[in-house]
Amino acid sequence: MKGTFITVEGPDGAGKTTQLQLLGDVLKEKGYNVMTTREPGGTRVGNEIRSLILNPDFEEMKEMTEILLYAASRAQHVEELIRPALEAGTIVLCDRFVDASLAYQGYGLGHPIDLVRQINDSATGGLAPDRTYLFDLTVKDSKKRMMDRGALDRIEQRDDAFRARVYDGFQQIAASDPERVQIVQANRSIEAIHQDLVEDVITYLEEKERFS
Ligand code: TMP
Repeated sequence: MKGTFITVEGPDGAGKTTQLQLLGDVLKEKGYNVMTTREPGGTRVGNEIRSLILNPDFEEMKEMTEILLYAASRAQHVEELIRPALEAGTIVLCDRFVDASLAYQGYGLGHPIDLVRQINDSATGGLAPDRTYLFDLTVKDSKKRMMDRGALDRIEQRDDAFRARVYDGFQQIAASDPERVQIVQANRSIEAIHQDLVEDVITYLEEKERFS
């Protein structure tokens, strides 16, 4: 595929959304074609699924329903937006992707990782990011930042043990795919993180171009 697929992952409140926007702005200034998007969501259908999944009123939502809804949002997103953008040569910056389902629904809720992976492979047709930035923030710091932000969504309302499993899950994902997944220390200033991200992404894009 001509384009480049970059994702950001990590615990809630790690600052990845701010960083993705800042990164997108810099890449656009440098003349790259960029599309910034997020999961769950990114499309009209996906945004409806997002409000359903995150709504704390739906206490009765079953775990398998949750897994499938994230995958459904992702299927729509890949086919409607991400794949066409990549085919057109765009840099797609996506706030969360399959790794989030592996970490939250697989490691966090305790569903078999292979099952979550299989469901998501069907949803995405096997599409995987070229590069992923995992924002590393302790459970304690993540919780503090979430609380400072105000009302918690249905997933954020889960307990610290869940958050700890998600954290460990992300670490395992990073360890199993160290070339793709770059760890970003998230407990630093916005500017310091931004500088590192821009430097790494530009180096990655230039190397990709050189070897293509
Ligand atoms: P966001 O806060 O990054 O927009 O993500 C919304 C919430 O959904 C967040 O708590 C992480 C969670 N999530 C999953 O549990 N599984 C997934 O596959 C995705 C994409 C997000």
